[in-house]
Amino acid sequence: MEKMWAGRFQKALDKQADDFNSSIHFDSRMFRQDITGSMAHASMLSAKNIISKEDSDLIIATLEVILEDLESGKLEFDLACEDIHMFVESELTKRIGDVGKRLHTARSRNDQVAVDIRLYLRDETEEIISLIKKLISAICNKAEQYKTAIMPGYTHLQRAQPITFAHHILAYGMMLSRDITRLLDAKKRMNYSPLGSCALAGTTYNTDRYMTAEKLGFDGITLNSIDGVSDRDFCAELLSAFSILMMHLSRFSEEIILWSSWEFKFIELDDSYTTGSSIMPQKKNPDMAELVRGKTGRVYGDLISMLTVLKGIPLAYNKDMQEDKESIFDAVDTVKMCLGVFTPMIETMTLLCDNMYKAAQKGFINATDLADYLVKKGMPFRTAYKHVGEIVAYCIKENLVLETLPIEKYKEFDSLFESDLYNEISLETCVSKRISQGGTGIESINKQLEYLSEYTK
Ligand code: ARG
Repeated sequence: MEKMWAGRFQKALDKQADDFNSSIHFDSRMFRQDITGSMAHASMLSAKNIISKEDSDLIIATLEVILEDLESGKLEFDLACEDIHMFVESELTKRIGDVGKRLHTARSRNDQVAVDIRLYLRDETEEIISLIKKLISAICNKAEQYKTAIMPGYTHLQRAQPITFAHHILAYGMMLSRDITRLLDAKKRMNYSPLGSCALAGTTYNTDRYMTAEKLGFDGITLNSIDGVSDRDFCAELLSAFSILMMHLSRFSEEIILWSSWEFKFIELDDSYTTGSSIMPQKKNPDMAELVRGKTGRVYGDLISMLTVLKGIPLAYNKDMQEDKESIFDAVDTVKMCLGVFTPMIETMTLLCDNMYKAAQKGFINATDLADYLVKKGMPFRTAYKHVGEIVAYCIKENLVLETLPIEKYKEFDSLFESDLYNEISLETCVSKRISQGGTGIESINKQLEYLSEYTK
């Protein structure tokens, strides 16, 4: 196929170089955005009397049919075209001849591709936000279901203090709510139209960029045409937001993997989200969670590759920038896939509450509460802390726990101890008395659920 730019050349492009240069096999996914952008451009050209109304109407009507034909599979992408922009234009010209050739007036592929990616990512970001909302919803439902289920809270992966499962899982809800705000924020900055920046310097035609921007749902236009065609900040921003989101999913996955091990056995994943082993008949592996953890590295890779592509290129457009798409597309696909399987995995998992409770009974996780007991009786916290440390050491030596150490023994350590201490250090009390704002107590759980309900709508 003869290139659109063949006029200046004596020889055709080498076959290998042509394949190397071509991007249609990955940028064809932006066909809807490319066509919508072209329609807006054509109607602006006629509104500003740059092309005739009849030509513009014919271009738009034909583009509509091309879009339908692509949607229905009647029309296939011609991989001999360099990219999606060339393909749509050549298909248009095939169908309506010279009129089609008028579309590229006052436009360049440089602003065209910049507008296409923004439109594409705007839609995908919306889609990803709605997937995150579903996950937050699943988390809130689990938290409701297991509002009072007690489990050990950890620091350094050592049993630390008793918490409820609801409190633990809602921490992930909070992270995900921030992910949504990060994406919305990135979307805000991304939503400016570069269309009409042309190759880099603008154009001599009397175009109206605000008109196309409005038609395409942008909040305004990019004010510097060089920046308009060179800027891929929004890709880097989205990729960092995706990376942080994946980091959250990966941490959550890590806990799912730990909790479903025999060592913990806090949860049972549903059969439909686990796999078996080809050799060990007893195995039930948390592959989905592991893959999400693994794919996080891949999304980080996409971010680094985008930043690296951009770091050394001079203004304005350079072909290096064609490399933006595979990274961002890969990240979009990966994030969507991960959220798609993560949410039902959470929805269908079962909690083994007894095991969690038993784990919370071990490890002296009520030691802080015992110290607080003494503090409430007037002892300075540091002194109480030291006393309890000695009591814990004694219990370990005698193979006892704080609940089974007799009151007489407590009194030997300090006369402030009375038999009401046992109630104060019960796991239920430890949890229900943590009434501080944001703590594991029930009032805070309800507040968290209420806050997160804003992110499920
Ligand atoms: N396929 C190109 C890309 O993705 C479109 C822009 C081409 N512009 C150019 N001046 N060669 O970046």
